[in-house]
Amino acid sequence: MRKYDWAAPLLSLTLLAFLLVACNGMEDQPKYEPLDPSSFFENGMSARSPVANTVARGQLQADSLLYDGQENGAPATEFPFPVTDEVLARGQERYNIFCTACHGYSGYGDGVVVGRGLTHPPSFHSERLRTAPVGHIFDVISHGFGAMYSYGDRIPVEDRWAIIAYVRALQLSQNATLEDVPPEVRPTLEAETKVVTETMSEDGSQE
Ligand code: HEC
Repeated sequence: MRKYDWAAPLLSLTLLAFLLVACNGMEDQPKYEPLDPSSFFENGMSARSPVANTVARGQLQADSLLYDGQENGAPATEFPFPVTDEVLARGQERYNIFCTACHGYSGYGDGVVVGRGLTHPPSFHSERLRTAPVGHIFDVISHGFGAMYSYGDRIPVEDRWAIIAYVRALQLSQNATLEDVPPEVRPTLEAETKVVTETMSEDGSQE
């Protein structure tokens, strides 16, 4: 046996012992679990409310367009950030998750729950909702509207705006003219419309 062969195992054992003791200490240290009562504070609660007139880091929310959908105290008519392809794709995904059950995939208010007896939401394609400011839709999502529940605590503000952009796209999809289509695409569209119309006139139904 070499001179210090026992040293390495002994050192590892000591380290292991230290680690175990340390772990136990963390586990058993006195601490409050969420909602635990406390006899230390006057109101008996261990969780403390934020100090009055203070704002936590990152919680200022001073941008009233982004957080409240308001501009000069009125429902906003513009988006707080540019509507890009990514924003629209995100909006479509979120809309399909959160809104379609009631409003339907095309926004006519014919989602699955309506067939089960829930209130029929209004169609997004009415003149009133097509011309409603985006800030109104933001308000409806954030605070609810009549029979509709609020989604304020489930959909972050950026996603609410993305959904609104997608609702606007849905509205345009049901109320667009040929002039809204880029000139280079129009001939293709006209040709396709002709095929559909001819198919319909042949057997009275759309293929
Ligand atoms: C559980 C069903 C349900 C879901 C989910 C739902 N809504 Fe609604 N929504 C309704 C109903 C019902 C109304 C009509 C409320 C009324 O007039 O009392 C409504 C009304 C609206 C209106 C019209 C407000 C007006 O001025 O008339 C908008 C805009 C709207 N919802 C947007 C959304 C969006 C966006 C989502 C997804 C984030 C959503 N809703 C999710 C049921 C729902």
